Amino acid sequence: ASPFSRDAVLSETFSRGESELADIDWDNLGFGCIPTDYMYIMKCAQGGNFSKGELQRFGNIELSPSAGVLNYGQGLFEGLKAYTKEDGNILLFRPEENAMRMRMGAERMCMPAPTVEQFVEAVKATVMANKRWVPPPGKGSLYIRPLLMGSGAVLGLAPAPEYTFLIYVSPVGNYFKEGVAPINLAVEHELHRATPGGTGGVKTIGNYAAVLKAQSAAKAKGYSDVLYLDCIHKKYLDEVSSCNIFVVKDNVISTPAITGTILPGITRKSIIDVAQSEGFKVEERLVAVDELLDADEVFCTGTAVVVSPVGSITYMSRRVCYGEGFGVVSQQLYHKLTRLQMGLIEDSMNWTLEL
Ligand code: COI
Repeated sequence: ASPFSRDAVLSETFSRGESELADIDWDNLGFGCIPTDYMYIMKCAQGGNFSKGELQRFGNIELSPSAGVLNYGQGLFEGLKAYTKEDGNILLFRPEENAMRMRMGAERMCMPAPTVEQFVEAVKATVMANKRWVPPPGKGSLYIRPLLMGSGAVLGLAPAPEYTFLIYVSPVGNYFKEGVAPINLAVEHELHRATPGGTGGVKTIGNYAAVLKAQSAAKAKGYSDVLYLDCIHKKYLDEVSSCNIFVVKDNVISTPAITGTILPGITRKSIIDVAQSEGFKVEERLVAVDELLDADEVFCTGTAVVVSPVGSITYMSRRVCYGEGFGVVSQQLYHKLTRLQMGLIEDSMNWTLEL
């Protein structure tokens, strides 16, 4: 057996006494990268298939200065979470959805991608090898970050000749410094994150670099993050830098439809299903920025942010406030989704995978 096979790593980890919980401050996790024990790596040539992935000790990786990902941004990432259940078992949330989304993105970015099975097996192996870093129940989650990148050398603009699929993990708590308190968003009306026909609908790394300028300016003014508008009419909601957006009015929940400029969030999709199963009407459509003015509640969804209530939105120096905490609807959806993710209620949706 390979010294990096999952069983070999688990027995090495166990024999070093690393089966106990890692020695970190579990009560004060934020959303930063805490180095853990292992990462997963699998490579493949352009035109080939991924095979023979392995766990390695977590650490820096070597890349050619002319790697496709460094020069031309040929890269994708994913994000998913693992929670410890009360009985000590670990739950993954819909990992096959991330696998399928990575495959869609890879097609757009001219990259080969792991199969759904390879992706899910790699996630499972990485989480098990880093088991001591999965926060105890109620303390947070293990954030799992799969990457797919053009790691081969190119100079002329072309798909890279070699690809690397890598997974690393980090224990995390709340994404926003506000914790679970409502966030304050600024609507951006000059810069845009996505264009029709562009890559806004896939999780390519460049989409996130593109939001840093407006995000930094907004943060410098005290906002939590930026809400983007469509680039043609400058009128319809797109998404927030790191998450999708929902608006609630008279118990009807609306969110921008997936039209190619919006990231098809797995939490977005799950919240829509949870809301419908709880009897709410959900509309996926164009949502005009003016609708924010008389909304009852606004909230964001994402793997990292989970469900975050929005306390205020500022648009062209007009500020609309929604309240001090969760709204009634977002609280109900947050409660249902997170209890399901943590294994505290029956998984009637069949969304969790127990390790
Ligand atoms: C996630 O929610 O997992 C994301 O990928 C967003 C990222 C900017 C933290």
